[in-house]
Amino acid sequence: MLEVRDLRKTYGSHVAVDGVSFTVSPGDAFGLLGPNGAGKSTTIAMVSGLIQPDSGEVLLQGHSLRAHPRFVKQRLGLVPQHIALHERLTAEENLRYWGQVYGVHGARLRDNVEWCLRVAGLTDHRKQRVERFSGGMKRRLNIAVGLIHRPEVLIMDEPTVGIDAQSRNHILDTVRELNRDGMTVIYTSHYMQEVEYLCNRLAILDHGRMIAYGALDDVRLLAGGLSTVRMDLDGDPAPALDALQQALPAERVEAGEGRISFHVRDPGPAVGKAVLALSQYGIAPLRIDIERPNLEAAFLQLTGRRLRDGGDA
Ligand SMILES: Nc1ncnc2c1ncn2[C@@H]1O[C@H](COP(=O)(O)OP(=O)(O)O)[C@@H](O)[C@H]1O
Ligand SMILES: [Mg+2]
Repeated sequence: MLEVRDLRKTYGSHVAVDGVSFTVSPGDAFGLLGPNGAGKSTTIAMVSGLIQPDSGEVLLQGHSLRAHPRFVKQRLGLVPQHIALHERLTAEENLRYWGQVYGVHGARLRDNVEWCLRVAGLTDHRKQRVERFSGGMKRRLNIAVGLIHRPEVLIMDEPTVGIDAQSRNHILDTVRELNRDGMTVIYTSHYMQEVEYLCNRLAILDHGRMIAYGALDDVRLLAGGLSTVRMDLDGDPAPALDALQQALPAERVEAGEGRISFHVRDPGPAVGKAVLALSQYGIAPLRIDIERPNLEAAFLQLTGRRLRDGGDA
């Protein structure tokens, strides 16, 4: 449906996007994941025709953005990272304004405004001026504006940054529902949990380059497919370490004060063996954490750095 071929963009001597290529199929929720400064917004701006790439190409249903900008832009809905609303207008007026910018009029505009207000959960606030909205409500209206011409592909650039948890969950669920109803979504974020929750396919960007690309499960497995098990214990594990190591011969068990951890492909049986070995020394677990292979681990494996997640908005 959407094909992005080898996009590049340089600012002065700084390469912001350095050869980004991906394809998005109808019905996909495609994630663009990467730390701040990775080149996500620049990529999105080129895909939606806001800025010109130095080189590379964007094709929607085989039509190139360069040759057929109107065809492509009519079918894309962009939700920018920074909120683009008229503060003095009401929610409804904002939607009508942007609808007309996209060439939507009459009964179709009326229907679309109703639908967008419903999707954003703002029907009851339609007559309220945006200046009186909370940050979360503005975010939701910002998304609704991106939907006003009922695009085939919705492109969202970090739509949950800087808002409270409740609004964030509302937005995530809205995006998930839109996608389930058939809308193709491109979702940009530096929160790996959001991409894990929403997306079936993704690309990871770092310093303008794509360092991973594919189905969510395949990208997760770039971490080696190992789960991390952490146990808090009610005693010092030192006396039990030999027994633990014998119970888990393939794993290297790391021990600390009152806790152990190990990496393992199949955590269920390994946890059982560890608990049994500990019990022979009168030690019991207080808490057991199993972290399945995830995007955070994949990013760490690929870059040697952590992709900070949550709490740093
Ligand atoms: N208009 C611009 N002028 C100069 N540098 C820019 C501009 N836009 C982005 N950059 C730089 O390009 C890199 C990628 O930025 P951006 O695409 O905004 O990343 P992200 O959205 O992943 O945080 C950053 O180093 C940023 O400073
Ligand atoms: Mg950005």
